[in-house]
Amino acid sequence: MRHLMNPLDFSAEELDRLFETARDIEVNMPKYAHACEGKKLATCFYEPSTRTRLSFEAAMLNLGGNVLGFSDAASSSATKGESVADTIRIISCYADICAMRHPKEGAPMVAASVSGIPVINAGDGGHQHPTQTLTDLMTIRTLKGRLNQLTIGLCGDLKFGRTVHSLINALVRYDDVRFIFISPEELRVPDYITEMLKDKNIPYEEVMQLEEIMPRLDILYMTRVQKERFFNEEDYVRLKDFYILDKAKMNLAPKDMLVLHPLPRVNEISVDVDDDPRAVYFKQAQYGVYVRMALILTLLGITVDS
Ligand code: NCD
Repeated sequence: MRHLMNPLDFSAEELDRLFETARDIEVNMPKYAHACEGKKLATCFYEPSTRTRLSFEAAMLNLGGNVLGFSDAASSSATKGESVADTIRIISCYADICAMRHPKEGAPMVAASVSGIPVINAGDGGHQHPTQTLTDLMTIRTLKGRLNQLTIGLCGDLKFGRTVHSLINALVRYDDVRFIFISPEELRVPDYITEMLKDKNIPYEEVMQLEEIMPRLDILYMTRVQKERFFNEEDYVRLKDFYILDKAKMNLAPKDMLVLHPLPRVNEISVDVDDDPRAVYFKQAQYGVYVRMALILTLLGITVDS
């Protein structure tokens, strides 16, 4: 039985196959309409979510399966003191696969270690968010045509942003990828990530200004400042509007640069950027359904004949 805790749990070849399936799903959706008939997905969300939970549910419904779960720790037995390990043992009796989001780093791994069904990490604290990464990679691969030879700027909360950590983790496997980290001093990417890049000889720069590096980017990955991970409100208020991508800054970017954002957006992208053809964050959310469909099929070992 396989789980997905980290994007590196799949080899690059397996990811390629998953993206091919996701592309096929996009163009031949009806073919997949009964693939998961009789199967159930449990969504166990101990932290707020719109896209991740609903795209998982939409994915299972599109595959002809059913969904059950909770969207708030307060409505689960966590409030009575039940452990994640006990909860997943129970969920294993009710469902065939589980997507779990938890504020504590590592909680989905604890669940996976005792689970009778595949567990997908749908975001664990400030650590990882592998299915967002699958979505991001599919977006880049489809709209840019490649996952290698890329200069990618990651901007905003690089300290707490789990989507950032997972995406860097996944991209280091592709050739000729260079990173530009754009953040205030307090929200720099964690040391364990820069150490890993140094070890692998992967080029990266850390800057504070967005304007100066815009002309060099193939991809700009914007992120929100992660309010819920701050220890005090004052720091959050001081940093929350540090970067605002607007039309004027977009004028500095190459014509074929893509702007991605895992969403939700707060103020970091002005709404007047939404009409720019390079702004692909809403399309990215749509790809999230296709990759999650492909992921559910892969983890359940279901193949659909062409
Ligand atoms: C992200 C998350 O939950 O980490 N959202 C998402 O799943 N698309 C990003 C965020 O909350 O900022």
